[in-house]
Order: sequence, then C-alpha cells, then structure tokens
Amino acid sequence: MISMMVFGPTPVGASWGVPRRATRRTSVALAFACLIVLSGCTGESSPAEPEDTAAESTADAPGYRDASAPVAERVDDLLARMTLEDKLGQMTLIEKGSISPETAAERGIGAILSGGGGSPSPNTAGAWREMVGSYQAAAGETPLGIPVLYGVDAIHGHNNLRGATIFPHNVGLGAARDPALVEAIGRATALETAATDIRWNYAPVLAVPQDLRWGRTYEAFGEDPELVGELGAALVRGLQGDDLTAETSVLATPKHWVGDGGTGWDTSIASGYRIDQGVTLAGEEELRTVHVAPYPAAFDAGAITVMASYSSWENGKVHGDRYLLTDLLRDELGFEGLLVSDWGAVDQVLPGDYYGSVVQSINAGIDLVMVPTHYELFLTALGGAVEQGDIEEERIDEAVRRVLTVKFAMGLFDRPSTSPELIELIGSDEHRQLARQAVARSVVLLETDGATLPLDAADPEPLLVAGPAANDIGIQSGGWTISWQGGSGATTQGTTILEALEEALDGPLVYDRTGRFASLAEDERAPVGIAVVGERPYAEGAGDTDRLALSEQELEVVRRLHQRVDRLVVVLVTGRPLVLGEIATLADAIVVAWLPGTEGAGVVDVLTGAEPVGGRLSFTWPEDVGVLDRVRSDACDGAVYPYGYGLGIDGRLLPGAASCEG
Ligand code: BGC
Ligand code: BGC
Repeated sequence: MISMMVFGPTPVGASWGVPRRATRRTSVALAFACLIVLSGCTGESSPAEPEDTAAESTADAPGYRDASAPVAERVDDLLARMTLEDKLGQMTLIEKGSISPETAAERGIGAILSGGGGSPSPNTAGAWREMVGSYQAAAGETPLGIPVLYGVDAIHGHNNLRGATIFPHNVGLGAARDPALVEAIGRATALETAATDIRWNYAPVLAVPQDLRWGRTYEAFGEDPELVGELGAALVRGLQGDDLTAETSVLATPKHWVGDGGTGWDTSIASGYRIDQGVTLAGEEELRTVHVAPYPAAFDAGAITVMASYSSWENGKVHGDRYLLTDLLRDELGFEGLLVSDWGAVDQVLPGDYYGSVVQSINAGIDLVMVPTHYELFLTALGGAVEQGDIEEERIDEAVRRVLTVKFAMGLFDRPSTSPELIELIGSDEHRQLARQAVARSVVLLETDGATLPLDAADPEPLLVAGPAANDIGIQSGGWTISWQGGSGATTQGTTILEALEEALDGPLVYDRTGRFASLAEDERAPVGIAVVGERPYAEGAGDTDRLALSEQELEVVRRLHQRVDRLVVVLVTGRPLVLGEIATLADAIVVAWLPGTEGAGVVDVLTGAEPVGGRLSFTWPEDVGVLDRVRSDACDGAVYPYGYGLGIDGRLLPGAASCEG
C-alpha cells in the first residue's frame, strides 16, 4: 500500500486532547484515549450529571452505575461483568421491524434503528416515543440494564416523522454556504429528533460527489471537499450541541467512510445501482485530497461515530478493508470513536460467504454491525468466529468498549429517555421560520433578464403558474422524506410554492399543473408565468441516472406556459444540476430551488424580492451529460455555469461568484 500522506500522521488522541472549547467532549475524548493508552488517564469527572443521582450513588450499586465515575472506569467495570454473549449483542444493530423489544432485550441487542420510512403507525411523535421507549424499557429490565442506542436518518430534519420541519437537502445548504445556518439547522433537527426519544442520527453525509449521475448527489453539500468539511462540521456541532449528555444532544455520524462520492458509472448494470455502492475511481492521492479531506473537520467538531461506505476501492469492499477502516481512519487520522457498518453492507464483503464477510469486516475495524434483519445468523457467525479463533476476544472487547463508551458519554445509563415536553418543538413556528430562511438563502439564480424578477406583489395582472412541483410537498421535499425514496403528494405538513405565491401576491393567480389552462380562453395571455418543474423524488439506487434533464412531459408544460406569457420564469425543483437544453431559450429567468423541504415560502421570498438572492452553486452546472464524468471544481470545461456561480436579482454576478465569461 502506498503511504503517501496528505495530512501527515496525527498522534493518537490529538484531536481529542486539545479541545477548542471546554465542553463535555473533553471527558469523552479522554475516555476514548484511555481505551488505547490504558494509562495516564487522569479521569476528569463523568459527563453524566442527571437531575436525580441519589439512586445511582448508593454504596452497593455496581460501579458502572455510579454517574460520578469517569466514563472509562464505568466501561471497565461493566465490561468485566459481561458474558461473551452480552458482548456480541452489543455489537449488533437491528431494524426495529425485525425484532420485538422483548427479543431485543433477551438477546442483549445493543442498538436499534428505524430505516428510511421506518415509522410507527400512526406516524405521530407520541407513537415514536412509545416505540423507542419500549426497546429502552425492555433493555432496562435486563440484569445489566444496558440502554439501547436508537438511530435514525434525520438528514434534512427528522424526515421520517410526519409533521416535522423538513429543511432543504444538503445540496441547497451547500449553495447557501453558511456554517452558522447549518449549525442552527443541526440544533433544530436535534431537538425534533430528541423529542421522539432518539439520540443518534446517521448524518452528516460527507460525500464529495464527482459525478452528478449519482442518485445521492443531493445528500451532499457540494463537489468541493473544503466546503463539505466546513458545513459537515457545522452540522455535527449543531446536532451534538455543547454537552453530549444533554437530553437534546443527538450523536452525529459522518458517512460514508470513505470514497462514496467517487464511484464510477457502471454500464454493465441495466438499472438501479449503476453508480451507488460502486467502485471509487481514485488513486490514493485523490482518495485523500477529495474524499478523506472533509473528515478531520467533523472529528474536530466532536463526531464520535462514523458509518462505513458500501463502495469498493483498491482492496475490494470498504467494509472489509483494514487499511481504510483502521490504518487510515484510526492510526493516521486519530479517530477513536465507534465505527458502524451500513445497512447489510457486511454481507457484500465476500458475496455468498457470510461467515467470511463477518470475520473480515470485524477484523478490518467495524465495531457495530447494521445487520439489519437476520440477527440470528449474525450472532451465530460472530460467536462462531470467536470460538474458532478467527476473531480474537480482544477485538470483541475493543468494539464493545467503543459502543459502551458512546452510551456512557451520552448519559444514556443515567437518563435513557428524553422529556416528553420536547414534543412541542416538533414543526414549531421557530423551526419552520429557520427552514424558510434556509430555503431563501439556498436559491441560486442562473439567468435573469433583469426585468422579470422580482415579481411585483401588488401587480393586479394575473399570474399563471404551471408544473407538478408547484403544489406538492412531497416533490419539493425529495427522497428521504416520510418514506425512504420519498414520494409525491401531501405526504406531510408544510407550505407549497404555490400556496406561498397565493399568500404573497395581491393579484389573481391561475394554476394548472399541466400548463394547458383549459379554464382560460385559447388566446388569453398573462404578462408573467412561472413553471415549477424538475425531478421527482428518489433515493439510493433509484436515483442513479444518465438522463439528467427535464422529462419530455415537464418540458411540454414549460412550452405550453411559454405560449401564454410575455415573460417566463422557470423554477427548478431538483436534487442536482439538470441539462437545461430548451429551457435556456424559453426562460427569461431560471431559478434553482433545489429540494427545499416543507417551507416553500422561502422560494417565494426570493421571487418577490422580500429576501435577497445569494446562493452560489456548490456543483458545476454541466452543458451535457456526456461531459459529466469527473466534474471538477473551478473548471469551465464542459460547464454552462462553474462551481461558485450565482446571480443577484439585478442579473449581475454576486460578489465572490465565479463565472466562465470574460
Ligand atoms: C430501508 C432504508 C435502507 C435501505 C437499504 C430500505 O428498505 O428503508 O433505510 O437504507 O433499505 O437498502
Ligand atoms: C444508507 C445509509 C443509511 C442506512 C440506514 C443505507 O442504505 O446507505 O446512509 O444510514 O441505510 O437507513
């Protein structure tokens, strides 16, 4: 293996040892450092300071129950009381639909998750609390009473929960380029997630997508590693807050380590996963400068869990690659936290050989396995591997220590559940206001004639609006919203772009989804029309496509509206740049709204000039699909608009914006 080092070796624990702020993170850092150093641990006091410690400090309670003891001591004490079976259970992460609370407790399962769309029925905050609480309660009644870590993908707000505030997907936040805004969104997301009793989030995505055909492009902040690192770190700070033990602190999980954004398009696959979960096309240097690069910032911001990537690199699947999972991540970057696998990803390490896959992944460095369903099979394989000597017991202890350290560091032993009063914060006016602001800030103006925008709110002339994305909360929210792949329709509460236009404008407004306007006379025209068109919701796999353009149907909507109006505004609701084609000639203004989420009013704030337009592209906007591969920052080659491009409402380049002209 080439040992070229871009970052240089980081001394173990360096990123933990010198925290920039005197937060509780210090003791977590120490706890993890102690696991490795094993001596010289001047255990600063435990982070856990529950309101009621009386019960915990009785003299005969086991040591690990003592909330005032240092985390590392509590971990040692508990580990010494655990059987091998207890330990294997702690390394297991199961989807809630595959195991009951009772069985999970019986088998000593360490962690539970809700996958995309893994909501209770009914999908209410109360039902979520009950669901999560039932696993926690069952775990609490076992002899050791080890709490479960419950995880969820809250990647743009607590997006599985109906009624939660849905923020713009990261592609939009990348265009807004404001770490403070992202941190505030992280805080709001943490509050809404914690309100359902969940303290673990599989976010931020630190992918640095290099090919727009990837269906997870919108989950990323941009194509530039520095921007991704800066905003990813901000999200970590926001989610975790200043004190990991606070009930509103939600553990962040940078993902997917490493190279997920660099995979190549596979022409041999007919549909579905043609680029997602593929092979990262980067040599060691590029792997480091592009895909590893955002992680140190997230670690400095306090991230103590990381999720591995489905993708492969030079040595096969990342999940089985000790060089990436241990040598690079831990020995070189100094990460001391918990490494969790992705959904069923361990199974892919050695296809057809599950036992071998488990052995290789655990020995490579995976601590906690998102099985996520067949726990019997997993526990049998893991237990068998220890018995056979294929996995050393020390390796098991190391993994379990990391799981327990995270649980103690979060104060889960001392306060396994959050306060039900937090429910009031879900979808609150304050959070929706923040989301609306974020939407406005993320909008990018690609083209404008300087006269069409801003819309005049007092204009008595009728406005024509067309397009399926104009009045659809599901479409404007995109994938990972209520369901895994997302879907169109009134999937959750919010304000559509059309509703916000109606609210903001005094004059009459006529909406026709198809742009036919059958209710109008054939020759009836309007001064201004707005077509809201773009992509339909998708997530992993389904979003991989080499057809990055409006569908013929939606293009037809734009053409029809164009016939009816003097000036046409095209608003693109999309997870990535689309090849503009005919749009470029039909439109007088082109506005990119990305996937704004539930607060469509933010888009309208920009259209009416109530908020300034300030977004700048975080992805190069390509001329054609043919030149998409290996899109590079700062390059105008094959680009209509370069990375960093964006206009102000007056049609001039924004300050600091990039351009390919002149
Ligand atoms: C789950 C997702 C998961 C996916 C993996 C879906 O059924 O809902 O959370 O990421 O499977 O393939
Ligand atoms: C995705 C992860 C996600 C997990 C759980 C996987 O399919 O790749 O990003 O955290 O499912 O839903």
